[in-house]
This record gives sequence, structure tokens and C-alpha cells, in this order.
Amino acid sequence: MNPDASTIAAGAPIEVDLSPIAEGQDIKVFWRGKPIYISHRTKKQIDEARSVNVASLPDPQTDEARVKSGHEQWLVVIGICTHLGCIPIAHEGSYDGFFCPCHGSVYDTSGRIRQGPAPTNLAVPPYQFVSDTKIQIG
Ligand code: FES
Repeated sequence: MNPDASTIAAGAPIEVDLSPIAEGQDIKVFWRGKPIYISHRTKKQIDEARSVNVASLPDPQTDEARVKSGHEQWLVVIGICTHLGCIPIAHEGSYDGFFCPCHGSVYDTSGRIRQGPAPTNLAVPPYQFVSDTKIQIG
């Protein structure tokens, strides 16, 4: 069953096939009118996200709490800067995560705020894996 566009806009869950997303690449999809970034992280990006001292972060949260166990290579975040709502750019900024050009917020490879005025990490939307290569958001 494929919901029509108006149903999707109203908030129906969406399914996303992850298989075309190469390691190191990101895609952007829309759910409830919001941009959602899906990043296929490299081992280096995962290691960077996990090597940080969590207590030193502005919004302390482990990488493990932000991804699904067994699917650590996939980061799924709402692409709306938590400062004033601009859309950050993926693979930009000093932490190889996301950079918001509006006022300079820098997020890491886990979508956690590291520098700049944004007060909190990029939000993780509700989602689940329905197979090894497919997620349902919402
Ligand atoms: S809206 Fe992103 S830094 Fe201000």
C-alpha cells in the first residue's frame, strides 16, 4: 500500500531503502515536511563519534544512544538546526558531521552539537529497521 502525497504530508510513516547509499554518503528525505538526513557512516566516523568524552559535550549523549544497536553505520537525524531552524549541510564543519551556515553551529558524525550557538543535538526521529536495508520513519 502506497499512501498518496497528502497522506504522507499529514504524517504517515515512510519507508526508505538504504541499499543505494554508499558508505560515506548521505541522503535527505522528507517526513512530515521535515528534512531527514540518513548517513551511511564509515568506521572512522563511528570511531570518532565514540571516542569523545561525552561529559564534555554541550548536550551530553552517547553515540550508542543515537543509533540502533547492530546498525551503527546508520545515523538518522532531523536536518533542522536546533538554534533557529536552518538546514545544516552534511559533511561540512570541523567534525565531519553537519555545519549550519546561518550562525556557525557545528555538529559531529553523531549529529551532536560541538560548536556554535545551537543548544542541543540534532533530533533523532522515531524510526525502526524493517529489514537490514530498509527503515521506516514515523
Ligand atoms: S540556525 Fe543554525 S546556527 Fe543558527
